[in-house]
Amino acid sequence: MRLPLLTGWHFARPELAEHHLRAFDLGLISATALHARRRMGKTEFLTKDLTPAAEKKGYAVGYCNLWQEDQDPVDAIAEAIHACSAPRRALAKVRATLETPVSTLKVSGKVTGMAEGGAELGFKDAEKVRSAKLRAAFSAFDKSKNTGLLLIDEAQVLADKRHTALEKALRALLDTRKDRLKVMFTGSSEDRLRTMFGAEDKAFYNWARVEALPLLGDEFVRELTRRANTLTTLKLELEDTLRAFDALKRVPELFRRFLSQYLGNAFEGVDRAIETCKQSVYAQEGFAKRWDRMLPADRLVLQLVAAGAGDLHGSLTLTRMGQALKLGRSADRSVPQNALKRLRERQVLIQSDKGVYRFEDETFKDWVQSEHPGK
Ligand SMILES: Nc1ncnc2c1ncn2[C@@H]1O[C@H](COP(=O)(O)OP(=O)(O)OP(=O)(O)O)[C@@H](O)[C@H]1O
Ligand SMILES: [Mg+2]
Repeated sequence: MRLPLLTGWHFARPELAEHHLRAFDLGLISATALHARRRMGKTEFLTKDLTPAAEKKGYAVGYCNLWQEDQDPVDAIAEAIHACSAPRRALAKVRATLETPVSTLKVSGKVTGMAEGGAELGFKDAEKVRSAKLRAAFSAFDKSKNTGLLLIDEAQVLADKRHTALEKALRALLDTRKDRLKVMFTGSSEDRLRTMFGAEDKAFYNWARVEALPLLGDEFVRELTRRANTLTTLKLELEDTLRAFDALKRVPELFRRFLSQYLGNAFEGVDRAIETCKQSVYAQEGFAKRWDRMLPADRLVLQLVAAGAGDLHGSLTLTRMGQALKLGRSADRSVPQNALKRLRERQVLIQSDKGVYRFEDETFKDWVQSEHPGK
């Protein structure tokens, strides 16, 4: 079933954008890292609030998202730096490419101003091309004399071991340009962002202020309910939409889907819209497939975390694990340890405190609770 297209639904957050830009303007800081869980509005804040507010203040803004399987982070960053170097009149054009769906975005030779890193090159040559690309982008920025704001979405990707060289190079290139190039990093994994900016052995140690993105709340629901009610005769009660927002774990993306679903099928009522909306995300995200591919120990740990089990290494838990894995004895401590390591590496779980874990994606937790609650 096709859902009606929603346009004009952005809930603007001018004060929040202003707050961050003021900190940059005052020279208090030159980089911030914002974290919030999946679907909470990071990208929307960067592209729809921060970008226009920064452009009004005279910044040339460049955006990249490092979590794109089909794009090398070097290309993504180089392209964003090029956007920060663009002469004012070209900015609108560059921004237009941002609105192109991600999957169709290509790094064209024209935008980056670079030769294509060819597949025919050997590994070492390819590395050279990558680092040359980055340096060329920065020198174009230097020539532009712009004041830039670089937005690096899903920045935790940089903390992957395979990107260590890039992380170091980028830090060095940014370091010498702090006055003219401000950086906003975002990430859905608080855990990883904190490591990236808080671990002494990391290139970006202490480099950015790490903060939580304030979450959208009742005001957002009130405003979007008002807008929805201009489009339907079967008016929504605020009481119901607040209840829907809570039922959907206060996740803005789900709430938008809920509204869309309701507006298309108002006669089916609020509860039906909530349920349909949950199911559509479950299916879209392929949770069942992801679950099937997991090791039994990992699934067990996820069930325990979803059920709010406190101590994952306690003897009671180890006994339960031993039973569930049919070991004929208690599981070793290494079983939950290794499972947790894998789940954290794959950004399924986040360590929020010492020994305390939570799901990175609340919707996945929801799915585990309803489909595989454990015994
Ligand atoms: N300020 C807002 N006003 C209206 N809708 C919003 C707002 N912020 C987020 N949303 C809704 O939530 C959806 C998810 O937002 P966004 O893509 O910004 O989340 P995210 O935190 O970047 O998620 P991910 O980690 O999955 O990339 C948006 O597509 C939109 O439907
Ligand atoms: Mg995003």
